[in-house]
Amino acid sequence: MAAQLLIFGGGQMGTALLEGIIASGAVASDDIVVIEPDPERRAMLRLAHDSLVLLDTPELEHIGPETSALIAVKPDVAEGATRLAGAFGVKRILSVVAGISSARLEATLSVPIPVVRAMPNTPAIVGAGVTVISGGSHVTKDDLDWAERLLSSVGTVLRLPEKQLDAVTGLSGSGPAYVFFLAEALIEAGVTAGLSREVSRTLAVETILGAGKLMSQSGQSPEVLRAQVTSPGGTTAAAVRSLEARAVRSAFVEAVMAAVERSKTIGR
Ligand SMILES: NC(=O)c1ccc[n+]([C@@H]2O[C@H](COP(=O)([O-])OP(=O)(O)OC[C@H]3O[C@@H](n4cnc5c(N)ncnc54)[C@H](OP(=O)(O)O)[C@@H]3O)[C@@H](O)[C@H]2O)c1
Repeated sequence: MAAQLLIFGGGQMGTALLEGIIASGAVASDDIVVIEPDPERRAMLRLAHDSLVLLDTPELEHIGPETSALIAVKPDVAEGATRLAGAFGVKRILSVVAGISSARLEATLSVPIPVVRAMPNTPAIVGAGVTVISGGSHVTKDDLDWAERLLSSVGTVLRLPEKQLDAVTGLSGSGPAYVFFLAEALIEAGVTAGLSREVSRTLAVETILGAGKLMSQSGQSPEVLRAQVTSPGGTTAAAVRSLEARAVRSAFVEAVMAAVERSKTIGR
């Protein structure tokens, strides 16, 4: 029977999207085929979803006029997977592969098929990702609406021109790592100040979670929220002075720019 969605790659990102798509009801599990060459990964997916079709290579019987493909494999095999999806005649393709342009993916296709590119991030695993989508040269509003429906099952979705995807990669794609880096530093600081590692970890993680929720839900800018916890001559003012003296703000700008440049290089 033809499936609605063919997912190439049941790894970390493919599984996160699969879980979100099924949980949100965007596509039913018995309407999804996952192409995953690793038998152990297939076995893990089978444990979680007994009605899912799991294959190591696509089969024609699962492709119909309404079948779309989601490419969630590593960049070095992405063009091969896209070529295969095209050869099987899928209706449209959504790629979450970092650094490979829609033009490069389109070049693997013998007939024009709409290619939507997306840059998600790992909080998608817990349904709290942020994803930017961009359309390739044959994409219509319908294709972008479809991609947004799928990806909004794992978080917030924004639409931007593809030329901004390197900047997006540097900010939100790599961004969770900057926050984990901050958490590591705060935990070390807590231990240095005399707290146990376990208590430091709880305090650091819950502070980051709570501050994120406050920024998202209060509608206030980070500057205003920071001013609210910075009383004149107080503890926060002393800490921020120390951060500014070490040019931490500028270090973050430079770090994001380094990631943006790296993303441009990988995509060449
Ligand atoms: N994880 C993230 O934070 C993140 C964020 C944004 C974008 N992405 C993008 O998402 C993509 C997947 O990343 P990931 O972290 O999920 O990688 P991953 O965990 O390594 O998953 C990729 C999976 O695809 C399988 N695979 C390899 N060749 C295949 C083929 N020809 N057909 C079908 N499946 C194939 C791999 O199996 P084998 O291990 O047997 O090769 C692996 O299980 C990458 O392109 C990455 O750029 C990831």
